[in-house]
Amino acid sequence: MPYDRDLLLFGAKRHAVLGLDEIQQYGIDSYQDQDYVSIYGLRPPQAHAMGVRMLGRTAVECTRDDLAEAIASDVAALANRCASTSRLVVDPFAGSGNTIFWLLRKLAGARAVAFENDPLVYDVSSKNLALLNLPLRLECIDFPPGLEHVRAAPGELVAAFIAPPWGRALDVRLGLDLRRTEPPVVSIVKEFVRRFDGNPMLFAIQVHERVEPESLTDLVSHFDAFEHKVYELNRAGQNHGALIGCVGWSP
Ligand SMILES: C[S@@+](CC[C@H](N)C(=O)[O-])C[C@H]1O[C@@H](n2cnc3c(N)ncnc32)[C@H](O)[C@@H]1O
Repeated sequence: MPYDRDLLLFGAKRHAVLGLDEIQQYGIDSYQDQDYVSIYGLRPPQAHAMGVRMLGRTAVECTRDDLAEAIASDVAALANRCASTSRLVVDPFAGSGNTIFWLLRKLAGARAVAFENDPLVYDVSSKNLALLNLPLRLECIDFPPGLEHVRAAPGELVAAFIAPPWGRALDVRLGLDLRRTEPPVVSIVKEFVRRFDGNPMLFAIQVHERVEPESLTDLVSHFDAFEHKVYELNRAGQNHGALIGCVGWSP
């Protein structure tokens, strides 16, 4: 049986803790690479030996090392152009927590808070992250109520990494429709802007290499400045990118 996306994301393996062989088989079957699902800077055998575990849905949904490192490097380059020296990183859709792991590596001195509303994903990821000893608080909560008790210092840069479940938002012909993710990306950006009004903000939104043009125009109209990156890490058609937008300041 192939360890494909649908089996892990929607099928019997969605909430199953995968064995090392299953993680490697998914990498081989989908990307011809047994190390494809590398997270926390570790190849699957190293991670497994350390005690890192992963559910089926997270193996598919995670922002794996190569991509998370590329995004975090670009976020750090932009953040370094902001006058603020203190940084709060927020990941409202933590999943494995791998992106926040890379953001903390690249953004010197940052502190971080992350939310995950699937208790089974939370359980596995919080145990994994405890092995890594990071300045990170992961909470099992829906992100809007979670955000309500997050405090940013005056002038502190709030950097949010936004990778909501895509659900059915990706159309192979038209690309990723940012209005159809669950929830829509603009509504998440608005929630942050309302909550951290007055602070400089930076949003990094994980996107597919193709983005539905109207949804892109709509989203970037909320930013004072933005960069659109595509990372050519996979075969054409399988790549991801990032939209990195500033609110309340410009580089
Ligand atoms: C696409 S995955 C994010 C993957 C993550 N970037 C990583 O590296 O693993 C989205 C995650 O957000 C969680 N999620 C979805 N809606 C949420 C919400 N409203 N609040 C908090 N977490 C949510 C899902 O359970 C899932 O684990």
